[in-house]
Amino acid sequence: MRIDAPQLTPQQTYKLLSGIVVPRPIAWISTLGPLGKVNLAPFSCFTFVSNAPPLLGINIGRKAGERKDTARNILAHQHFVVNIGDETLLDAMHDSAEEHPPEVSEADLLGLRTLPGAAIDTPRLADVPVSMECRFHSVTPYGDTGAEFFVGEVLVFHIRDGLARDGKIDTEALRPVCRIGGPNYASLGPIVSKRVIRQTPKSVMGADAPDASTKAP
Ligand SMILES: Cc1cc2nc3c(=O)[nH]c(=O)nc-3n(C[C@H](O)[C@H](O)[C@H](O)COP(=O)(O)O)c2cc1C
Repeated sequence: MRIDAPQLTPQQTYKLLSGIVVPRPIAWISTLGPLGKVNLAPFSCFTFVSNAPPLLGINIGRKAGERKDTARNILAHQHFVVNIGDETLLDAMHDSAEEHPPEVSEADLLGLRTLPGAAIDTPRLADVPVSMECRFHSVTPYGDTGAEFFVGEVLVFHIRDGLARDGKIDTEALRPVCRIGGPNYASLGPIVSKRVIRQTPKSVMGADAPDASTKAP
C-alpha cells in the first residue's frame, strides 16, 4: 500500500503516525495551575533530547486552538515535573487525560499523593518510580495545528530506592508502560541483551564551537 502524505487530513496523519511511532514512553506531567492546584496529564510525544545538559522534550497540541493547561502552566511558572508511571498506575495515568477546568486538580481527583519539589515549587507524584523536576528551556511551534515542542532541563532526578544500580535503571523493575495507537497501551516484553558496540566517545562542545544546526531549505 502506498499513501501520499500530502493527500491526508491532519486527523488521518495523526492516526497513522500514532500507530507507527510506537511504543512511546509516557511523560506524566505535573504543573502548578493558576490557583495553586496540581494539574496532571499524560503526554506520549515524549523523548529526551540532550544529556548535557539533561533536556527532555514533549509535543503538546491544542484544544480548539487553545493551549492545554499543561502548556499554559509551564509558560506561566517556568517549571514542571515529568513523572514516569508504572503498570500499577496505568488506570490513573489514562484517566488523568480527562479534561477538567484549571481549578480542578487531577491529582486530587484521582487520589494521587504528591510531594513538594526539591528544587522547584511544582509538586511531584509520590508513588511513581521516577520523577524529574524540570526548568522550562524553550518552546518551538511545528506545523499547522499549533502543536508546540516544549523542552525542559532536568534539575533533579527522583528515583525509587533500589531501582538504580551503578547509575543504571533496572528496566524490568521499573515496569514501564507505553502508548501505542488509540487508547491502547503495552508493557515491556522480553528483554534481549546484545554485545556492546564500541562508540566514539561523546564530546561536549565548547561555547565557542560553531553552530552545528542545519535546516532543510
Ligand atoms: C497516554 C496519553 C498520551 C497523550 N499524549 C499526548 C501528547 O503527546 N500530546 C498532547 O498534546 N496530548 C496528549 N494526550 C492528551 C492529553 O493528555 C489531554 O489533552 C489532556 O486533557 C491535557 O490536559 P491539560 O489540559 O491538563 O494539559 C495524551 C493522552 C493520553 C491518554
